[in-house]
Amino acid sequence: MIIEQTTLLRGKKILFGVSGSIAAFKAAGWVSSLTKEEAQVTVVMTAAATRFVTPLTFAALSGNEVQSDIFAGGMAHIALPAAVDAVLIAPATAQTVARLAYGFADDLLSAAVLACSSPVLICPAMNSKMLTHPATQRNLATLREFGYTIVEPESGRLACGEEGAGRLAAWDTVRETLLGLLATQDMAEQQVLITAGPTREPLDPARFLSNRSSGKMGYALARTAKRRGAAVTLISGPVALEPPPGVAVIHVETALEMAEAVSRSAAAASIVVKAAAVADFRAAAFSAHKIKKTVTEPLLELAANPDILASLGRNRRPDQLLIGFAAESDSHEAEGRRKLLAKKADLIVVNDILGKNTGFEADTNQVTLITLETAETLELLSKEETADRIWDKAITLLHSKRMKHGTEQV
Ligand code: PMT
Repeated sequence: MIIEQTTLLRGKKILFGVSGSIAAFKAAGWVSSLTKEEAQVTVVMTAAATRFVTPLTFAALSGNEVQSDIFAGGMAHIALPAAVDAVLIAPATAQTVARLAYGFADDLLSAAVLACSSPVLICPAMNSKMLTHPATQRNLATLREFGYTIVEPESGRLACGEEGAGRLAAWDTVRETLLGLLATQDMAEQQVLITAGPTREPLDPARFLSNRSSGKMGYALARTAKRRGAAVTLISGPVALEPPPGVAVIHVETALEMAEAVSRSAAAASIVVKAAAVADFRAAAFSAHKIKKTVTEPLLELAANPDILASLGRNRRPDQLLIGFAAESDSHEAEGRRKLLAKKADLIVVNDILGKNTGFEADTNQVTLITLETAETLELLSKEETADRIWDKAITLLHSKRMKHGTEQV
């Protein structure tokens, strides 16, 4: 499930290869999604692919002429790949995988890939026995040696009626992988720890204290860091979001569980970002049975939870970058700066929780980035673009911190 569209694919030129599998109908939906995100998609079909879905379908969905004949003129097998940002082949049949592995060039798709110097992303789809056959496995290994990225097929019910590996991967996984191929890998050296979502503080078996955090901001930070090459660990409170592909997720419920998970993971991280909305209080005593209605309102005695960010600020490595968030309803900059100093963070990301399009649950956010020396308010952006801007700032801060401490270059 994709939380919100980003502009990361806007203007990107994608050569979309389709080969002859029943999964070609799914590729039509993918071309439509890419076009909606304003990518410029040119579809190249193998002859077999046109037996499953017509070129007219892909022409209508991409808004561009579909190519499939290497002899159609214009040296298309050279011209097409020369101008693209990436090649995406989905579905890739066993036959197409073999042809690419052996460097065949007698149809437009294989010739274009051979002439291409942009990243190549291949999504195999076939019967399980064909997929696991040593010939196919050897061909896929060859393609990996070429530096092509293979998005592994999923397991499940196949078109032939069998169950097993061979189903075309999910679009969200493929899209994430494509964005990773297109993103600048400026976080490849980073071990990133992110907290996201709310915590739940149980009162009795039926009730808990919590807040409106959906996890979208923290999950956007995890997704974008992964795309930029970071190794990402995400400590998540209870949310309704799919974990971003390729991210290690630790699920927690209470503030105490989150504190314990953070203390286990923080030492290894070069960057820690605390985007979670951690409850400051929990019930002083958990009622083992549901609290019954009585004639008088029950009193709720609370106990303080640990301040995880403040604890990180006291115990971190000097070269580690510590980023906190501040959920404010007024005095945004003053409160953000107070928290920056009080918690010894390097950067505080302040967001307004009263705004309709900012803070809790929104797909967008407008934040102010506060450091010791600066305060920079960004425009209203998607949470993914906000996350990318936070990483831009983090990389700059990490670099200057490491220059100051004389440790290795970022
Ligand atoms: O999840 P979404 O729906 O996308 O909403 C995003 C968000 C509004 C939750 C997010 O952008 C945000 O502001 N997260 C921080 C919320 C919060 O707890 O802010 P705070 O000002 O109360 O806490 C300040 C900092 O201390 C935060 O980094 C928080 O993670 C941390 N903290 C707070 C309390 C506590 N006991 N331990 C902590 O570590």
